[in-house]
Formats: sequence, C-alpha cells, structure tokens
Amino acid sequence: MSQQRWSEVDSYIEQQLVGEDAVLAAAREASENAGLPAIALTPAHGKLLHLLARIQGARSILEVGTLGGYSTIWLARALPDDGRLVTLELNPHYAEVAAANAELAGLAGLIKIEVGPALESLRALIVADAGPFDMVFIDADKSSTPEYFELALELTRPGSVIVADNVVRDGALADPATRDPGSQGMRRFHELLATDARVSATTVQTVGAKGYDGFTLALVR
Ligand code: DHB
Ligand code: MG
Repeated sequence: MSQQRWSEVDSYIEQQLVGEDAVLAAAREASENAGLPAIALTPAHGKLLHLLARIQGARSILEVGTLGGYSTIWLARALPDDGRLVTLELNPHYAEVAAANAELAGLAGLIKIEVGPALESLRALIVADAGPFDMVFIDADKSSTPEYFELALELTRPGSVIVADNVVRDGALADPATRDPGSQGMRRFHELLATDARVSATTVQTVGAKGYDGFTLALVR
C-alpha cells in the first residue's frame, strides 16, 4: 500500500464523514499562510479527538502544543458553553495565529492560550491548582512527551482521558536502536505507561495523509 492510496482514503473519509467546515479550512489555510509547519491533524483525526471529548463528556480540556489552533478548535467545539480549554504553545507567533483562528471560530471565550515552555506552564498550572482536566491532548515536541505526560497526570482525575499524538513515527517506536530523539521520547513514554499503575493505555497505529504514525489513548484510573 502506498502513501497515495492512504491519502485518497483520507480524502474519501473526509468527504463522506467529516466535512471539514469553512472555519476549520480557514484555520488550516491561515496557519499555512503564516508559515507554520503543515503538521496539523488531518480532518479525520480532528474529528476523532472531537468525538472522544464528547464521549468523555469533557467540560475541561488541556492541550500541550497549540500550533495554529486547528486541533484546538476541534476540541473546543466538543465543550459546553461554560467549558474551558487551556492550550500551551512555545512559539509566540504560532500562538498569535491560533488566537486569531479561535476568534474567527467564535471560540475565543472558551480557549486560553499560555505562551512559553510547556514544562513551565504545566508546573504553573499545578501550582495554581488549575485542574482537574477531563481530557488532555499532548501534541508538542516529541522528545518531551514523557515529561508532559507526567505533569499532565497531576492535572487529571480518575476517569480523565489522555491522548498523545505521533507516537509510532514510521515504526521507529519498536526500534530500540532508534537515534531519533522524538522516537526515543515515545519509547520512554511507553516505558512509563507500562509501569505506571495510575493509567491504563493502548497505542493505535494509523496510516493516512500524514503517513504512518499512531496515537496513544490512556485512561486515568
Ligand atoms: C510533526 C509533529 C506533529 O505533531 C505531527 O502530527 C507530525 C509531524 C513534526 O514535528 O514533524
Ligand atoms: Mg501531531
């Protein structure tokens, strides 16, 4: 099977089931026009996150890695009117683009963007007792995923759901000799999950317009 076929099927799924609307399409386009890397979720994965948040009945969501706010909009749309979403972004330019996209989506009132290193923002949220969050989505620099997970866990409650993106990385997840720092991070992340009695987790491999990758889903016990 080829990348072309995976992309064709993603387009089919998008047309049949997802129907990315004008607001989401504009957010993706604004991000790309502003020079942000074209690594936002596919529409199908955006909708998966949205559905997970709804299944969870999430009223509060924490996101690590905002980029241009594409996933942020999918997630915030799952919240009730009095819900809240806190999203952490290192790059001030990305955060500006995301803030404009959230505004255009009519969701700025639900979304708080914290600019700075996510490890510092997470520690500040813990100190401020800003949790618990019903759902956490980790999609930032891959090598730090284990540290983001450990801190995010302190901002959850039993029953919270944690999702992490890009954990399979073309299969490097299963290669003990991988030299890619991101893949090493995802292996450390899995070692943590395997030994941490506070969570029950699985990882699902995916193919699609963004190639071969996967995500981890963890339930806080
Ligand atoms: C990259 C980051 C992502 O979050 C993603 O979904 C795909 C690629 C990257 O940094 O290359
Ligand atoms: Mg990602």
